[in-house]
Amino acid sequence: MEKLVIEGGIPLHGEVRISGAKNAALPLMAATLLTPGRHILRNVPDLRDTRTFIRLMENLGVKSERKDDVLILDSTHLVHAEAPYDLVKTMRASVLVLGPLLARLGKAKVSLPGGCAIGARPINFHIMGLERLGVTCKLEGGYVDAHIDAPMQGNVIYFDVPSVTGTENLLMAAVLAEGTTVFKNAAREPEVGNLIDMLNKMGARIEGRDTDRLTVHGVKELFPADCTIIPDRIETGTYLIAIAATGGSGTVTGCNPAHLPSLLEKLRSAGLSIGETENSISISWPSRLQALPALGSVDIKTMPYPGYPTDLQAQYMALMTLGSDICVITETIFENRFMHVAELQRMGAKIRVDGHSAVVSGRGMNGLSGAPVMATDLRASSSLVIAGLAASGRTDISRIYHLERGYENLVEKLTGLGARVWKEQE
Ligand code: EPZ
Repeated sequence: MEKLVIEGGIPLHGEVRISGAKNAALPLMAATLLTPGRHILRNVPDLRDTRTFIRLMENLGVKSERKDDVLILDSTHLVHAEAPYDLVKTMRASVLVLGPLLARLGKAKVSLPGGCAIGARPINFHIMGLERLGVTCKLEGGYVDAHIDAPMQGNVIYFDVPSVTGTENLLMAAVLAEGTTVFKNAAREPEVGNLIDMLNKMGARIEGRDTDRLTVHGVKELFPADCTIIPDRIETGTYLIAIAATGGSGTVTGCNPAHLPSLLEKLRSAGLSIGETENSISISWPSRLQALPALGSVDIKTMPYPGYPTDLQAQYMALMTLGSDICVITETIFENRFMHVAELQRMGAKIRVDGHSAVVSGRGMNGLSGAPVMATDLRASSSLVIAGLAASGRTDISRIYHLERGYENLVEKLTGLGARVWKEQE
């Protein structure tokens, strides 16, 4: 296996271009199952997860062709309606084929994704919503075996908590249902909006984009899509935090500042200067007298969009270990998303976990020192990269396949900012 090696303590400077959003590319690929034809998706990132999803689609009979960041998916001939365990277990987002397969074929057999490092990750809201639309779902042998005996009927679907893929899966199920479906307490993430735009371009009739109340008027037919994936807001936030953590300055391009309202506010409160254009964000430290900047310690609490994103919690914690005071980080979305804490502590971080909250005692901008650490999940691993970049000395990060799930060309992008980072065999 490979590890990532970082010689830390070098301020990052320069420009980095953001790739398409992983968490938009996956549902938009699934949506091409809804109707036969040659679909075109643009700005698709080349990641472990997108490659896995393409394999899943090909397993269903979809023909795929990639030219740079343009992905062509021809879903004319589907050969079956099953998503097997060996594929789903490596990427839980595979559950997103459930809704479109039921809408297109009237049946679907999808392996239950099972838990993952950050939590149990149930899909009860997905099942509840499908049953409200008239789908029969049987859970047996670790699979959801679902089918309809008559066309799906529109209904009211209420989410106890806003679920991103739950909203996406059920939108794709409802667009071809008879009648109208109303979603209440739906997720409002930008990736859901990207999917709604694509479905409406395909001929669907969905109202309420960006709100928690969506109305879907069922239609009889959809047409092949030509759609562009939005920039990855989590990758954007990861690079902004990395630049800040190293005491550097830089510009993140090809991104959408409007998708990061909470993070930009927190970084400004912590003392950073943030500039925005419609597709770039620049970050720097105000001119200062002392050699090292003084980073403010600012609390966060993760919430559904537009609150602070749980997918940027670990990265922010790495930054706050360098703060000049104490702050509290509260994780409200997942039950076990503090696994980066033990690894950060190996690098000298002072953090105390108490239930869903972590109390971080900042040790100043040179508070971390390099060490061998282990990645446990996608976003925890990116927080270790940030810590390694900020720390003095060398950091070796093992199990970097986690990182490759969600960060395109990570080594090239960091090197372009002046980082000393490379891969080695374990
Ligand atoms: C999506 O996961 C993202 N993945 C996650 O990103 C992200 O962390 C999460 O949304 C929250 O923003 C993709 O979009 C592919 P949820 P999802 O359903 O949809 C509970 C990453 O790093 N829940 O919004 O699976 C659930 O346990 C990944 O890119 C149920 O109880 O998350 C959680 O507490 C990690 N029953 C809360 O809802 C359900 O049926 C929100 O989960 C569904 C969810």
